[in-house]
Amino acid sequence: MKIACIAGARPNFMKIAPIFEAIGKYPNLKPILVHTGQHYDYEMSQIFFDEFGIPKPDFHLGVGSGSHAVQTAKIMMAFEETVIPHKPDLILVVGDVNSTLACALVGAKLCIPIAHVEAGVRSHDKTMPEEINRILTDAISDYLFATSENAKLNLQTEGIPNDRIYLVGDVMIDTLLKNKEKFSSTNILDHLGLEKSSYALMTLHRASNVDIMSNLTRILDAIDTIQQRIKIVLPLHPRTRSRIKEFGLEDKVRNMEDMIITEPLGYIEFMGLMIGAKFVLTDSGSMQIETTVLNIPCLTLRENTERPETIIEGTNELVGIDTELIVEKSMDILDGKGKSGTYSKLLDGHASERIVSVINEKMRPKSN
Ligand code: UD1
Repeated sequence: MKIACIAGARPNFMKIAPIFEAIGKYPNLKPILVHTGQHYDYEMSQIFFDEFGIPKPDFHLGVGSGSHAVQTAKIMMAFEETVIPHKPDLILVVGDVNSTLACALVGAKLCIPIAHVEAGVRSHDKTMPEEINRILTDAISDYLFATSENAKLNLQTEGIPNDRIYLVGDVMIDTLLKNKEKFSSTNILDHLGLEKSSYALMTLHRASNVDIMSNLTRILDAIDTIQQRIKIVLPLHPRTRSRIKEFGLEDKVRNMEDMIITEPLGYIEFMGLMIGAKFVLTDSGSMQIETTVLNIPCLTLRENTERPETIIEGTNELVGIDTELIVEKSMDILDGKGKSGTYSKLLDGHASERIVSVINEKMRPKSN
């Protein structure tokens, strides 16, 4: 049975790696790796293949950047050309990026079964392109691998039949638990002249935060105040780097003496920074879960979250992009009032194995 596994953008690679490994344990399953090329810089793509030992993609569609419509359409056209002659028995997509929806849509129109890993995750905010990608991918998928009880409930509420939903947990955490030992052995802290707990780690790339100048400025104003009390390390996403330049905010950033900007980092170095951080500031989805699992306080620079479990049971707090609130909550953490907590249900490092076991069982040709 041929399974076309799709990866296109940075967060996909950490998710596809453990699934690939799990598929390798079944001799009757043949994975075909398709890289759409949504992300293409070394540190946004190839570095993760090297770190996780993911094999070279069987097909690289090379689509690159573009508006949502252009990027999605280019992926669809290139993927359709690849799929038709190679006829996979299943298309497996992960997460919520444009590559996820584009490939699922191509498969559904060709009547090829679709498996969606990370199904049911919802922010209930349709201004997020990722939310549109999630809802539509789930609507046309045949095997929906939900991350949590809440994700399962979201799918049920949208009318998805129970027999398509499998509650399996989070593959991102499979990768985290598998590599955890390596996090503290990287020399990234020495390299940046940092000591454990002496800095905050930040990421920022959500279009709604960085593409609107007033929003980006409000966030930078908060960082400016916080870095006067604790160093902030910001591995800079290319989207954010471009916007800082475009909006003429380079001097503002340069003048923040205790903000350390790096290029985007590989997984092990990045997680090495996360595990040593006093707290995390982010607008990413994955980091909300990762910080909860590692019991590190996390302030999420968004008005909503697709991971409500991390607020209810974990270390996450929503602070939006209100400059005062971001500063106030950061100071609270520095004053010892950060949230602690963790939730462990299904976050046991075996989500990928559960997924592949379901696929193997359900797709196996039935003997009479
Ligand atoms: C995409 C995902 C987002 C995910 C993020 C992780 C969608 C809708 N969004 O957003 O959910 O959290 O990836 O990074 O799919 N660029 C480079 N080099 C690269 C890739 C991108 O310079 O290798 C620049 C380009 O200028 C590009 C911009 O970053 O236009 C944005 O890239 P794009 O893939 O469109 O969206 P992301 O913001 O990365």
